[in-house]
Amino acid sequence: VSASSSRVIGLFPTPVLHAERVVSAEVVEELREHFVRGARQANAKSSQLAHTEILQPAADQRLGALSARVASRIADFGELLFGERLEWAIKEMWVNVLEAGGHQGLHSHANSFISGVVYLTPPHPQASLVFVKALGQPAFVFKNTHGTSGTGPFNADKWVMPSVAAGDLVLFPSYLLHEVPANVGDTRVSLAFNAIPDRLNAWGYRIGFTA
Ligand SMILES: [Fe+2]
Repeated sequence: VSASSSRVIGLFPTPVLHAERVVSAEVVEELREHFVRGARQANAKSSQLAHTEILQPAADQRLGALSARVASRIADFGELLFGERLEWAIKEMWVNVLEAGGHQGLHSHANSFISGVVYLTPPHPQASLVFVKALGQPAFVFKNTHGTSGTGPFNADKWVMPSVAAGDLVLFPSYLLHEVPANVGDTRVSLAFNAIPDRLNAWGYRIGFTA
């Protein structure tokens, strides 16, 4: 009797990168000390969430150094998305300060291809970044969800980022919806950014992105 084997193939996966301790504790503290003070813009959906203004890496030596520190990770990640090592630039950065009780509503990042977060504090596990599958297809939806139904990669609606530490980097495709649930822990500080490649090339037709 010959044993037949079977396997399940997960089609079209979405990459999310978690790189541990990309930024040293000293630099994390320096960034946090400097930019938390500048986070004065209240979030539209949560009064316990504040942001800095949009910052340019070239305009600040600390952000320039951080940008250089994560550049190779972005280029690696971009190769997964576009099949080629491209020239990437971080076009904007901002710092988020989420006080206890605050949350960040569901959103994605427009005019960007790779988005990232560098944690400047260790977030409370219940205030982890949550990635959410696309919502709102114009059709009725059927689900099988109840007390004894299971959840796996093929039927889950969301995915919660496992524990991260201050100094960790997370990269994800900018189209991916994400949110942060109500923060039950201490003030949660993160530095977010958007990155674009200099160009994409579809059989000679080039689309360029410049400031
Ligand atoms: Fe975001």
